[in-house]
Amino acid sequence: MSSTVSKKISTLTFQKYKQEGRKIVCLTAYDYSTAKILDKTGVDIILVGDSLAMVALGHPTTHAVTMDEMIHHTRAVTRGVSRAFVVADLPFMSYQVDLKEAISNAGRFIKEAAAEAVKLEGATELNLETVRRLVDMGIPVMGHLGFTPQSIHALGGTRVQGRTAEQAAKLIQDAEALEQAGAFSIVLEMVPSMVAQLISEQLTIPTVGIGAGKFCDGQILVTDDLLGKYTDFLPRFVRRYANLSEVCSQAVEAYATDVRQSCFPCEDESFTFPPDEEAALRSLMDITFISKGELSC
Ligand code: KIV
Repeated sequence: MSSTVSKKISTLTFQKYKQEGRKIVCLTAYDYSTAKILDKTGVDIILVGDSLAMVALGHPTTHAVTMDEMIHHTRAVTRGVSRAFVVADLPFMSYQVDLKEAISNAGRFIKEAAAEAVKLEGATELNLETVRRLVDMGIPVMGHLGFTPQSIHALGGTRVQGRTAEQAAKLIQDAEALEQAGAFSIVLEMVPSMVAQLISEQLTIPTVGIGAGKFCDGQILVTDDLLGKYTDFLPRFVRRYANLSEVCSQAVEAYATDVRQSCFPCEDESFTFPPDEEAALRSLMDITFISKGELSC
């Protein structure tokens, strides 16, 4: 890793990247060992996304994950990170009810889980006020526009957003409102490339795209999608860089075969009992030891 890559990332880094035209690399993580790999590889933003609900906890949507579960996983992630900027996703109903609750839940991520920023979906009046207040308190906020999974039922499913001029104009206005409220970056999910490009050019803060084309200032994917580990469905915008589900299945099958054929564990994977102690135990207990037999593999 070069010295520029090893420097701790902060919100100032993203402004610099945007000015320099350097892309921001973002991925999700929900646990310590994954976070450690991403951090060592030089990923800039690690998002503890509420996609955790689906990918790690097996729920059909993101709705079910709780604040306590998000805190639990964010703590695991931050333990594995020293360079990347860690953003925690405010889960469904943790910020939509009122300002006080939104602020206190965002604060929990910073105080209890060592996250460095929070993310919320949409640009409602309450959200904009929440962003303003959090930013005033020193908590950086990432916005999320376009397809917002917490509103999946209202949006009629997982669909591209901003496909009409009117919808695209609303997206641009919402992005500008989030920037004005003080968000440091905005995720654009499932938005036509041209609309995402317009927003990216219009804003001084960076956009991070997922299914929003190549003109965003950065890109994010769900790590388990990229690695081919979560296979319930494959959105069109995902590029799979590995097939971990197959790699894992092959490894588990090989292990099962070895166990069934008594080929695992071998001597190097076991602990010996000193021969003199074996003799002592034999006389102590009056036991006849049976031969261990030879492993054939
Ligand atoms: O929850 C999540 O993982 C997300 C990203 C896909 C942007 O919000």
